[in-house]
Amino acid sequence: MKVLIVGSGGREHAIAHSVAKSEKVDKIFCAPGNAGIGEIAECVAIGAMEFDKIVDFAKNNNIDLVIVGMDDPLVGGLVDELEKAGIRTFGPRKNAAILEGSKAFSKDLMKKYNIPTAAYENFDDPNKALEYLETAKFPIVLKADGLALGKGVLICNTLEEAKDGVKSIMMDKKFGTAGNQMVIEEFMTGREVSVLSFVDGKTIKIMSSAQDHKRAKDGDEGLNTGGMGTFSPSPFYTKEVDEFCKKYIYQATVDAMAAEGREFKGVIFFGLMLTEDGPKVLEYNARFGDPEAQVVLPRMKNDLIEVAEACIDGTLDQVDLQFEDNAAVCVVLASDGYPVSYEKGFVIKGLESFDDKDDYYVFHAGTKKANDGFVTNGGRVLGVTAKGKDLKDARRKAYEATEWIDFENKYMRHDIGKAIDEA
Ligand code: AMP
Ligand code: GLY
Repeated sequence: MKVLIVGSGGREHAIAHSVAKSEKVDKIFCAPGNAGIGEIAECVAIGAMEFDKIVDFAKNNNIDLVIVGMDDPLVGGLVDELEKAGIRTFGPRKNAAILEGSKAFSKDLMKKYNIPTAAYENFDDPNKALEYLETAKFPIVLKADGLALGKGVLICNTLEEAKDGVKSIMMDKKFGTAGNQMVIEEFMTGREVSVLSFVDGKTIKIMSSAQDHKRAKDGDEGLNTGGMGTFSPSPFYTKEVDEFCKKYIYQATVDAMAAEGREFKGVIFFGLMLTEDGPKVLEYNARFGDPEAQVVLPRMKNDLIEVAEACIDGTLDQVDLQFEDNAAVCVVLASDGYPVSYEKGFVIKGLESFDDKDDYYVFHAGTKKANDGFVTNGGRVLGVTAKGKDLKDARRKAYEATEWIDFENKYMRHDIGKAIDEA
């Protein structure tokens, strides 16, 4: 069969890598893809938001299955457009992708269906928000309602900071229309865990847990990024936590969406915080996490195409989802200066070291082909992933592999997976 993947990051490279292992697949296309994806798929120069072109391409090339990796096209309704044209697509429709597309929607859903989350209020009037802050407790968390590249969350320690935050989100529109509404919520403390799941509208199957490192610098300092590294599984995701989430969060979310007439098919990403009062939902995403996908998918034993088709067909209950009894760590190699400003176009050396090496992977995020080689073309450049017999082994191997790669302004965190030592 022919598969088209929509997206261009490390996540889409990890998806393409899994899809390439499927015996069912003859040919993979990716729109727009990147240089690394181009090694295993044919990249087509169509942007992820060019819906008409994507639909035309899928029709003209007899694509059997489209996998939408990115949030923007999901929230914008690409799945609906493809389905209208009769093309099988893995991912939630627009009315379900709102679970990620609107934080106000997701908070209201959790409240209505008693799914544990931080206490909150929604606002569409900045003056009401400012008034509310006068009697609030600090620190407090401000969230732009819509998609903001993972940057629309502000943790404010003082009333002054929070007032400035409301102004920048709702009045100055720092995150554009994403700030037409906002959520103000209680600050929670605890460990964060990312749990990805497959959903077919009724049934939910949980993938192995992971932990992201969102801050740019060692010791969780610096600005929030798209993610600087991950490990899987999380040693803090215990059997007890799993049981609690199965009882109060996962199926409850799927059932709530169905009850609202918003049947969810695709991947739900649960951003959880393990608080003293038990696990609570920080956020939902309607797609694989990035770089979570880079440590979770290489450990999955199932054929990704079979699982995606079961989600579309509503037969996920018949799938026995299995993960390898090992661990993986991903260290992101970025361009120095990310996430603010950085240079591009530097030659990347050492990629050939990963050829045919078991359990070492290099997923491309921001790279471009130039002459015979590859050059840097983004803030996050590569995700270096290694699998090991346990987390410490995987971490050692991942950092070993980061040394094989060289490019000017190469930057990485040196403490990905430090939490493992505290487990
Ligand atoms: P989100 O995009 O909602 O996951 O938020 C980004 C990051 O902000 C999360 O990964 C947390 O580290 C932090 N965060 C979000 N909401 C809260 C909260 N209510 N309390 C504490 N930290 C939060
Ligand atoms: N790594 C977090 C995300 O994909 O949103």
